[in-house]
Amino acid sequence: MPPHRRIDADGHPTVAELENSIRTNQLWSTGLLAVERKASHDVIGYCGLVDSGRGAAGEPELAFELLRRVWCQGYATEASLAVLEWARSSGYERLWATVWDWNTASRRVLAKVGFTETERKEVDAAYGTTLFTTRRL
Ligand SMILES: CC(C)(COP(=O)(O)OP(=O)(O)OC[C@H]1O[C@@H](n2cnc3c(N)ncnc32)[C@H](O)[C@@H]1OP(=O)(O)O)[C@@H](O)C(=O)NCCC(=O)NCCS
Repeated sequence: MPPHRRIDADGHPTVAELENSIRTNQLWSTGLLAVERKASHDVIGYCGLVDSGRGAAGEPELAFELLRRVWCQGYATEASLAVLEWARSSGYERLWATVWDWNTASRRVLAKVGFTETERKEVDAAYGTTLFTTRRL
């Protein structure tokens, strides 16, 4: 957890403060959204847009992570397609997604929703290679 996201010594932000900020701030065009199943209404992970600054300016990254017990049922693909629609309607023209080269499932999801790999890569001796993928909207 990066320091700027931690709860401070006085307990802020409180749950009520976070809730209020989510309810009143209509201007967000990026952020991670809860993925909720339509039939069972359970939250199974997140999917959304992150202003990581790793792509180009004004072009956020798609990010997703789901609970292991729901993997391989198409949920990440479905959630990503919904987020792409949100990004398009917010006026973005291009998105990025970064993924470890060994993350086969994530690479497959990105390919299925239309991301293509670029020339750009970052090699980390300990973890592997980060691939930069992109998609026009
Ligand atoms: C990546 C992740 C979100 C995928 O979620 P998901 O709901 O299982 O994804 P989907 O079911 O929509 O699609 C997964 C695809 O990968 C394939 N796949 C999954 N594991 C695989 C493996 N080990 N080898 C080959 N293909 C694999 C599935 O067969 C499916 O492809 P298909 O539709 O062609 O059959 C999930 O695995 C996850 O949360 N992983 C941990 C967090 C993470 O890595 N996030 C991404 C960081 S970039």
